[in-house]
Amino acid sequence: MKLYSKEVMKHFIHPQNVGKMKNYDGLGKAGNLKCGDIMYLYIKVGKDEGGKEIIKNISFETFGCTIAIANTSLLTTMVKGKTLKEALKITKEDLLKRFGRVPLVKIHCSLLAVDALGEAIYDYLSKNKKPIPKELRERHERVERDKEIIEIRHKELVEIEEELHQKTKHIK
Ligand code: FES
Repeated sequence: MKLYSKEVMKHFIHPQNVGKMKNYDGLGKAGNLKCGDIMYLYIKVGKDEGGKEIIKNISFETFGCTIAIANTSLLTTMVKGKTLKEALKITKEDLLKRFGRVPLVKIHCSLLAVDALGEAIYDYLSKNKKPIPKELRERHERVERDKEIIEIRHKELVEIEEELHQKTKHIK
């Protein structure tokens, strides 16, 4: 049996929406408690015909593994054009379902994308002084607590990832 499904390989080999975004409206950063890998996710917010706020553009940069890359690529294709509310409803389980098969030891990697997206929306809402749903606020507090632990537990790795992030050029 192959380790990864066709869908995982498709997004890993040809990841969609990769790269730093220059003029973003929201930036989310999330880390993985188990491995210390970091994800940066950028959103540009626009409006649909009915005036609802939607994710007009999205991109990501990650130092995570195969699943983190494939998972985030998939998520970006799912939320582009969706309202912020719809985007927030997508769960780790939704992504895993689409992938069909993910090794047990890699399940934790699939949380990065969802967390980073939540953080990018949180960043956009708080910067623009818009109401923040209770669930999102709680999610944000948990991600912040995780980041503090990651910075202690995976200090050296986090420093290298941060340095690489600073050096990466904007490509979107
Ligand atoms: S091992 Fe770190 S994100 Fe998968």
